Amino acid sequence: MATVSMTVNGQAVSGEVEGRTLLVQFLRENLNMTGTHVGCDTSQCGACVVHINGDSMKSCTMLALEAEGAQVTTIEGLAQGGEMHPMQQAFQDNHGLQCGFCTPGMVMSAIDLVAKNPNPDETTIREQLEGNICRCTGYHNIVKAVQQAAKTMGG
Ligand code: FES
Ligand code: FES
Repeated sequence: MATVSMTVNGQAVSGEVEGRTLLVQFLRENLNMTGTHVGCDTSQCGACVVHINGDSMKSCTMLALEAEGAQVTTIEGLAQGGEMHPMQQAFQDNHGLQCGFCTPGMVMSAIDLVAKNPNPDETTIREQLEGNICRCTGYHNIVKAVQQAAKTMGG
């Protein structure tokens, strides 16, 4: 076991992990932050996406120890003062979720997408969210949500 320390949603955290412990396991099992989901074991679904130092990352593809010292943001860290993040609001407004299992990862990927491309067209959104699978096949409203959020986020 080894000690790993990082900042998660602005809070300094640390915990004991094995060398093989994935970042998503650390978040869910050590920190009880279960908003980050595990939807596959092949790094395909994107349900586990978080931000590492501002960039979206599948937290199932990274060891907890690799996040030593990192700034990590999870879905739990988005709402501020009881107000949803514009991307969360846009998903709600546009019915961009059905079962919601993929939604945390979808929202985290979409925020990174808009941060890097403030005015994405539909093709860009669909291509950039290729790594996030919604098994409900609700992509139409997800695209609409991202377009709305891009406007409210200043695109
Ligand atoms: S859990 Fe499916 S990509 Fe990470
Ligand atoms: S909303 Fe059900 S998997 Fe995406």
